Formats: sequence, structure tokens, C-alpha cells
Amino acid sequence: MNITIIGAGYVGLVTGACLANMGHSVACLDINKRVISSLKKSKIPFYEPGLSDLVSKNIVNNNLTFTSSYGTGCKSDLIFLCIDTPSNEDGSANMNNFHKALNLILKNAKKDLLLITKSTAPIGTTSFVQSFFSRNLKNKKIKIDACSNPEFLREGSAINDFQNPERIILGTYSKKAIKILRQLYLPICQDKKKLIIMSPESAELTKYSSNAFLATKISFMNEIAKISEVVDANIHDVRAGMSLDPRIGKEFLSSGLGFGGSCFPKDLAALIRFQEENNIPTGVLEGAKRVNDKQVNNFAKKILKFLGKNSSSLSITIWGLSFKPNTDDLRESLSIKLIRTLAPHIKLIQVYDPAAMKKAKKELEDISNISYLNSQYQGIEKSSILVICTEWDHFLSPKIEKIIQLKSKIIFDGRNMLDKAELNSVGIKYQGIGLK
Ligand code: UDX
Repeated sequence: MNITIIGAGYVGLVTGACLANMGHSVACLDINKRVISSLKKSKIPFYEPGLSDLVSKNIVNNNLTFTSSYGTGCKSDLIFLCIDTPSNEDGSANMNNFHKALNLILKNAKKDLLLITKSTAPIGTTSFVQSFFSRNLKNKKIKIDACSNPEFLREGSAINDFQNPERIILGTYSKKAIKILRQLYLPICQDKKKLIIMSPESAELTKYSSNAFLATKISFMNEIAKISEVVDANIHDVRAGMSLDPRIGKEFLSSGLGFGGSCFPKDLAALIRFQEENNIPTGVLEGAKRVNDKQVNNFAKKILKFLGKNSSSLSITIWGLSFKPNTDDLRESLSIKLIRTLAPHIKLIQVYDPAAMKKAKKELEDISNISYLNSQYQGIEKSSILVICTEWDHFLSPKIEKIIQLKSKIIFDGRNMLDKAELNSVGIKYQGIGLK
């Protein structure tokens, strides 16, 4: 099939590269000409395992091309809208770029098109897209069929998630859309039960509620972790005990600094805003957000309490800057929030991340008392404490002979990834979340 992907960002590029790899002829379109020109040279502006190779391979195969021209983009039969919908100040999704794209498609469409929204967009967007084109194309004898097809790709494993989907959601009333998309997804979704067809509104709400539910699970566990600390319980044991009940499951029950990234905070805020705008009482979702918003501050307070009155004469080390492992994405990174909270109270913050150093230097350029380490253990002997903010595999088995050089011989583990008893047995103190 001839496919255009509008928006060569994270979702667009992964979707485009994976569809090209399935043998389709894919054009990735972005109005940012700088991005398009580096993509043509296989240069990807972010880190996602396997993506660079997949893009290069499909450029060579001639299955993947890049363009900034809507004239070219509208020649395809299928258009995926993968445009960013960032948060407005009130939490609602900013649809400016999305609407600009619709207008450009309207201007350039010369044939029937299937328009598939992958962007996480407010409930009602697909119906709006359908009526926008039906209204404006009346005299052009062209038909556009709209469909919502939300993405559930996790950063760090996005290619595998695309190629092995848990489910594919199609929200549309168009028979043509269902027929074409069934065929498109057949190679990666042979189990018919995994492809679910519903109304556009249901599909859009499915996306929001999936992310909001997972975010709520995390906040729930972080709230339980607070109780655990007070009663001297062990949150790891509590989680293990809970998760053996298949109704609860084991995923997304890890307590820590909370959830970050480009999706959970944004989607949760947008859903809450939607509740407010429609006078729908909010409770659970608002609570999940509130718990998450406080999580970093609580951790920072623990750290500052430990460092005591002399904190401004002390140096600390932080491992992990990206919002989660296997990405260099700093959006809503809790590590960045922690650094900003601690920086005014500390002499020097030494930071290390396996992938996100370059982006962090830019993000934190206004902070002067920060030093970017060339390697994980550099300067550890100058540091009072070690703080872990991202659960990269690199941090799983810290070298004890190095850690022991910390002045206060203590690790603050914001991801509960290390073994407290093991560290204690070699003379290293440990402070996790939900653990005494
Ligand atoms: C998420 C969804 O999982 C994906 O389906 C969606 O479409 C896009 O948003 P992503 O943002 O890549 O994916 O990250 P995810 O792996 O879901 O983690 C989100 C955040 O939750 C991270 O900050 C992570 O550290 C945190 N988290 C996750 C926890 O704090 N505890 C957990 O148990 C799991």
C-alpha cells in the first residue's frame, strides 16, 4: 500500500519504519525541513533501540522516503496522523498543529483518502475530522474516511510493541477503513480477537483510559509505599503478595519516583480537564495525579533531611536522567524535577546517564552547580550520597569497591531497583521507597 505518515516524531517514525519494513511504500512527512533532511541521511533525533537500523534498511530498500510536501503526501491512499498534541496550561491537548495538518490535507487532497488518527487527541476528534472533510469536500467529489487507531507503543521497546501488538483498536464507522486496516495489520495481528472495532469515541477513550489506568496503578502503589514505610513493611513483599492474584497482576506496581514521559502525565491531565469541562465528577484520576505530583518532593525532602544543615557544602551524584531506561527522552523526567528541586540546596550535583547526557546539558543549562560525568563512577569519592532516578540495567550491580568510597556510604534508590540487604551486608546504607 502507499502510505503517508504525517509527523515524523516518535510515534510517526516508528510507525513509518515498521510499515515500510512490512513491504509498504511509506512517505514520512514533516513540516520541519531540518528534521526531514537529517532523516534522509538516516539521522534520528532521539534514541530508540533498533530504530536507526530499521530506518536505514528501508531507505536503502526504497520503501521509506521523507518529505515536507503535502502535495506528495496526499498522493497516498492512507494517511496516518501522528502529530504531537502537547498539553496546554490547563491540561487540555493543544490541537493547533493537528488542525494545521487537516487544512493542508484539505488543500492538497486530489483523491479519496483514508485518514487514520494515531495522535492522542481529545474524545470527539475523529468525528470532527470526518465532518470537517465531509463538509469541506462536498463540491470536490472526493471522499475522506476517518478512523481512530490509537498507539500503545512504549518508548524503549516501540518496535517490538508495533510488531507484536497486544491489541489493535479501530474506531470508525467506515466499512472501507475497516477492510483496509484489517488487511494492513493482518501480518502482525493474526489473532482476530486482538483487533477490536468500535466507535471513534470509544477508541479515543480506550487510549486515554489505558494510560490513566496504568498511571493510577503506579500512584496507588506509591501511596501504599508511604503506609509501608510507617508500619515498617517491605513494599517488595507487599507487591509480590498482591500480584499473585491474577485479578491484580504484577505489571505497573513498582513504587518509585512516579510516572513521567510524554504520555502518562499529559493524558491523565487531559482526561481530568475533560471531566472538568463536562462537569463529570473527578476523584480517582485527580488523586492519581496528585500523588504523582508530590512524589519527587517527598523524595527530595528525605535526601535533604539526611544531608542536614550542611547540604550546601556537599556534593551528590545522580544516576539516570531519562524518564525511563532505554531512551534519551527527558520529557516529564522525574530525575530532572529532582535535580531542579535539590540544586538550590546542594554545592554540586554530578550526573550520569547512559543515553541522555547531551539532551540533559541543554535541558539544564540554566543550572550552574551541575557536573556531567564521563563515566558512571567518576567523582564518586567526592560525593556524599548516590541517588538513582532511572532503572537502567547499567545501575543494577553497582561496583561495591567504588560505592564504598561515597562519603556517607548511602544510596537513595528512587526506583527501588537494588537489594537493600545485600548492600547493608557490605557496609552500604540504603534508602528506597516504601522500605524502612
Ligand atoms: C506509555 C504506555 O505504556 C504506552 O502504552 C503508551 O501508548 C505511551 O505511554 P511510555 O511513556 O513509553 O509508554 O512508558 P511506560 O513504560 O509506560 O512508563 C511510564 C512511566 O511510568 C515511566 O516514568 C516509568 O518509570 C513509570 N513506571 C512504570 C513506574 O513508576 N512504575 C511501574 O511499575 C511502571
